[in-house]
Amino acid sequence: AEKKMWGGRFAQGTAASMEAYSESVSFDWQLYAEDIRGSQAHARVLAKQGFLTEGEATTICDGLETVKAEIEAGDFTWKTEMEDVHMNIESRLTEIIGPLGGKLHTARSRNDQVALDFRLHVGTRLVAWQASLTALIDVLVARAEEHRGTMLPGCTHFQPAQPVSLAHHLLAYAQMFKRDHERVTDALKRVRVMPLGAAALAGTTHPVNPQAVADDLGYEAIFANSMDAVSDRDFVLESVFAGSLVMAHLSRICEEIIIWANPNFGYVKLPDQYATGSSIMPQKKNPDACELMRGKTGRVVGSLMSLLVLIKGLPMTYNRDMQEDKEPFFDADKTVSASLGIMADMLRQIEYVPEKMAATVKKGFLNATELADYLAAKGMPFREAHHITGAAVAHAEAKGIGLEDMDIAEFKQFSEDIEEDVFDVLDYTAAIERRTSPGGTGPDSVNVQIVRLKEWLAAV
Ligand code: ARG
Repeated sequence: AEKKMWGGRFAQGTAASMEAYSESVSFDWQLYAEDIRGSQAHARVLAKQGFLTEGEATTICDGLETVKAEIEAGDFTWKTEMEDVHMNIESRLTEIIGPLGGKLHTARSRNDQVALDFRLHVGTRLVAWQASLTALIDVLVARAEEHRGTMLPGCTHFQPAQPVSLAHHLLAYAQMFKRDHERVTDALKRVRVMPLGAAALAGTTHPVNPQAVADDLGYEAIFANSMDAVSDRDFVLESVFAGSLVMAHLSRICEEIIIWANPNFGYVKLPDQYATGSSIMPQKKNPDACELMRGKTGRVVGSLMSLLVLIKGLPMTYNRDMQEDKEPFFDADKTVSASLGIMADMLRQIEYVPEKMAATVKKGFLNATELADYLAAKGMPFREAHHITGAAVAHAEAKGIGLEDMDIAEFKQFSEDIEEDVFDVLDYTAAIERRTSPGGTGPDSVNVQIVRLKEWLAAV
C-alpha cells in the first residue's frame, strides 16, 4: 500500500474504485490560491504564537509561494492519490522544504482548513458578482435615461394595461438587481467569518490565535463555536440562493427579450453578437443567448437544491458528504458570472423600436383607465365610471377605432358628464405624464429613480 498522509493505522491500500470515488482534487484544485493564502496566514500566526520560529514561518511561506508559482506555470502534477487540493499542496511543500513542511498542519485539521479555503473563495467570487451586478445596473440606468420619452404598453397578465415609459420599465429591473446586490452584501457578512482554530471539531490544545489569522486575512469576524465552524455551510447555500435569484431575474428579462424580438412584437432588434442564425432557414435571427440564459437558470436552481438536500440530516460535525458542496458552487458561479456579463453587454447594444411600442399602445385601449378616472373625478362613483367606460370600449372596438377617435356626440351616449376636455386625458403621453404619484411612471418620478440609482452606484 503506498503511503497516505493519514496511512499510519492502515495495512491495506485504498481500492482503485474508492480512490476515484473519493478524490476531490479534480475540482477543488481551484481552491489552490486560497489554500496557500490560508496556510501562509496560519504559519505566520504559529510563529507569532511562538510555536514556529520566524525563520521557519518564512521558509514555509516562501515554499508555498514556490508551489503556487508551479501551479500557475502549469508545472504542478496534481495527484489523485493525494485526494484533495490541501494534501497535494502540503505534500509538495514538504518535498520542497523538507520535514519542516510537516509542521504546517499543527493545530489545524482539513476540516477547518477546507472551511477557510472555501469561505475565502466564495467571498472573492461574491465580490466579483457585485461588480457585475453594478455594471448591469449601470447599463439599465443609461438605457433608461435614453428612453425617458419612449412609450411602452405596460402589461398585467401579459395583456396591455396602461402606458408607461420604457425608462420606468427598465428601472424596475434595476431595482431587482439592486436588491440582489444588497443580498450579496448581506451574505458576505456571514461568508467572511474565519474558522481556523476550530481544528477537527473541538478546538485545540495548541495556543492558536484565530483573531490574528482573521486580521492577517482581512476578515473581521471569527467563529464562536468550533463544532459549528467545521460543519456550517450556510454561507454556500445563501450565496447560491442569491445567485439563483439573480438568474431568475435575468431569465425574466430573457423571456421578455425573446417575446419582444418576435416580429409580431418587434419591440427590439437583437445585437448580432448575441443572436444566431439557422442552418436551414436563411431569414432567422434567433435569441439564443436569452434562451440559454433562461435554460441555465435551471442549473443554478438545481445547484441550490443539491446543496439543500446535501446538508439536510447531516449529524454534527464535519461529514465527508460536505465535499459535495464545491461543484454546485463552482458551477453556479460560472453561470452567474457569465450570464451577468452577457446580459450587460447585450442590453448595452440592444436596439429598442419605439414606433412598434407606440403602435401597440394605440391598439390596446390603454387609455381606458383615463376615461374612468375622468368620470370619477367629476363625482361619478368609480364602479359606475368603470362600467360606462367598458361600454364605450366595446363600442369603439366594434367600430375598429380607439377611444380617442370617437366624437363628442358618441361619448355623450355613454355619459352626459363627458365633455370636450376628455380628449386631453385620452392622450397617451398625457396618461404617462399625469402619473405623478411617488415611484410612478411620470417623468419626475423617473428622474428621481435615476438620480437615486446613480447616487447608489457612486457609493457602492
Ligand atoms: N476534501 C475534503 C472536502 O472537501 C477536505 C476535508 C476532508 N476532511 C476529512 N477529514 N476527510 O470536504
